[in-house]
Amino acid sequence: MLAEDRLSGQILEFLPLIEQELKSFLTSSLQAFDATREVVEYAVLSPGKRLRPLLVLAVARDFGCEIQSVLRPALALELFHASSLIHDDLPALDDDDYRRGRASCHKKYGEARAILAGDLLIAQSFRCISDSELRADEKSLCIEKLTLSFSAVCEGQVRDIDDQDSDIEAIHNLKTASLFEAAAYLGVVQSQNRQELFDVASQFGRTLGMFFQAYNDLLDVTGSDQQRGRPGSSDGRNAKVTLFQGQDTERSRAQLVRLEEAMLLHLDMLESLLPEKSTGMVLTRDYVSLLQARLSEL
Ligand code: IPE
Ligand code: IPE
Ligand code: MG
Ligand code: MG
Repeated sequence: MLAEDRLSGQILEFLPLIEQELKSFLTSSLQAFDATREVVEYAVLSPGKRLRPLLVLAVARDFGCEIQSVLRPALALELFHASSLIHDDLPALDDDDYRRGRASCHKKYGEARAILAGDLLIAQSFRCISDSELRADEKSLCIEKLTLSFSAVCEGQVRDIDDQDSDIEAIHNLKTASLFEAAAYLGVVQSQNRQELFDVASQFGRTLGMFFQAYNDLLDVTGSDQQRGRPGSSDGRNAKVTLFQGQDTERSRAQLVRLEEAMLLHLDMLESLLPEKSTGMVLTRDYVSLLQARLSEL
């Protein structure tokens, strides 16, 4: 049974909206870029979970914010994420031939096109912010956050390929948690510059991202080929230092539980900042259940 089947379904109502918006954004923004268009669409429109834009929309809806206004910024995260996956699979990084159950971008189109499609996506993700319906001051907050977050991913990826660096927590924070932090932050960016809320949302997103990368490390070791979207373990083949490679599994599982507790604690903290008339963190809790359900399958 798919994890999605066990959920209340409310959060999943956003999926068609995200898919439709991704398609229409790419159609309009790639009009002038015929040669790269097919490669970009192959990478973005393949079956991803859309976890980062879903988190933006879940938090925004729970806080009573305007979904339409953060839809484009939410897509900005997905486009950047897609670019990071294209680059992550390249021979110079993880050298993976498969992604999302099909040939990775460079396997299908060659390295040069894959690299350039990834670059184009980074540029277009900023266009998503400028095209959004947010106010000018909100756009500039988004740009500031995304610039930091995208830079952190690059730093994390460099450290990830550096054999000498075994500080897994720092690597996970940079390469993965920073995008989830940005997602939760974008969810509250319309909340009139409430610094405490920005900080708590960011911390929640970060702890969620740490939990998610730990899940991804476990997936690499114990998941089926279908769950991983590729045959065999990539981390094992590359002798990567991950939470579940090269250390006692019981210790790693205990660490995963600690990360889950930290995520849930920060979710409670975020819930305590909801506006009075709100009905609770319904969608965000639904989202967290989705991740927990996936984990329970491993
Ligand atoms: C995979 O992310 C890469 C990591 C940062 C762990 P996802 O598991 O969200 O990838 P897709 O978008 O669903 O393919
Ligand atoms: C991917 O991390 C992180 C980024 C792309 C920034 P991994 O290399 O661990 O993820 P998968 O297993 O290839 O999706
Ligand atoms: Mg990698
Ligand atoms: Mg990889």
